[in-house]
Amino acid sequence: MGGYLVIKGELTLGGLVTFNGLLFVLTNPMRNAGNLMNEIQRYAASAAKVNDMLLEHPRVASPAGKSGETGRKAPIRGKVEFRDVTFTYGEKKGHILQPSLTGINLVAEPGQTIGIIGLTGSGKTSLINLIVRLYDTTFGAILIDDVDVRDYNLQELRRSIGMVMQDVFLFSDTIEGNIAYGVPADTPLEKIVDSAKMAAADDFVRHMTEGYETIVGERGVGLSGGQRQRIALARALAMDPQILILDDTTSAVDMETEQEIQEALHQHMGNRTIFIIAHRISSVRHADQILVMDQGRVVERGTHEELMACQGIYQDVYLTQAGLASDTPASQGGDQLGP
Ligand SMILES: Nc1ncnc2c1ncn2[C@@H]1O[C@H](COP(=O)(O)OP(=O)(O)OP(=O)(O)O)[C@@H](O)[C@H]1O
Ligand SMILES: [Mg+2]
Repeated sequence: MGGYLVIKGELTLGGLVTFNGLLFVLTNPMRNAGNLMNEIQRYAASAAKVNDMLLEHPRVASPAGKSGETGRKAPIRGKVEFRDVTFTYGEKKGHILQPSLTGINLVAEPGQTIGIIGLTGSGKTSLINLIVRLYDTTFGAILIDDVDVRDYNLQELRRSIGMVMQDVFLFSDTIEGNIAYGVPADTPLEKIVDSAKMAAADDFVRHMTEGYETIVGERGVGLSGGQRQRIALARALAMDPQILILDDTTSAVDMETEQEIQEALHQHMGNRTIFIIAHRISSVRHADQILVMDQGRVVERGTHEELMACQGIYQDVYLTQAGLASDTPASQGGDQLGP
């Protein structure tokens, strides 16, 4: 169009060039303004979410106070008791959810190891989440050293309980930093290494070119599932907790390494109370008490020998995992519970 006007003599060449230049100067800010509008909308949406989160009141808090300074702080010996605990996650979209736990009773004496097994969705994680008050019970109570968990100072309670969650989370930090996460900053490296040794992590960490200085997590080197689990276990052990909870913590670790970890735990954690959730019978068979969960209830309990003698679910699972069940072919990796 511009060219045509120049040929017809209605526009000078200089005029066209000037016009084009000005056009460019004009379109850039217009485009930027468009982008800016987009950004502003995104910021507004994010700000609303952050605001919602900041204004959220925690459902679980230390007794009668927001300062975090309230509640019982005495050192914990490690007795854990469930008194007729029923728990529902609440409601979703208006309808009330079925209880995930019903009528749970349990006494774990200090120093005991409690094994928990059961099919997926049977309530194992829900049960142990209540001990550290990730949720509060709907009915019934949980007592630690005969005191309701709701009467403890929340931070103090959680500091005394080491928990390795089912979904391991590693920070984008060095391995040392990840293990030392819950301990005072002046903790010597030896203590960190000791925890790693107990968790059977020291060996593979030393084989990495940067050892304990290796950056892991989202921005670091990839670790296998079993390696991540062992770092997380070392983190929990470094806190030297009186109660240790392992939610499926050795599921991705081979049986041999698992045995190594169990022996180390046995040696160093003698007077600690330990909860072990597992799918493999081999992980729980030496426990003082084993609970078999099904649909939110404890359906069998006892030691390995007692449970084998009563010929119920536990024995079935044992035989399946050992590849001895008459109707189940010995499966490869037949160490997993359920089909
Ligand atoms: N955050 C949640 N909100 C609502 N329901 C939940 C929530 N977490 C678990 N549930 C429900 O509670 C029940 C028990 O779940 P839980 O996670 O305790 O099982 P699990 O025994 O740990 O299973 P897995 O072996 O797969 O880890 C399930 O029916 C599950 O759907
Ligand atoms: Mg679970």
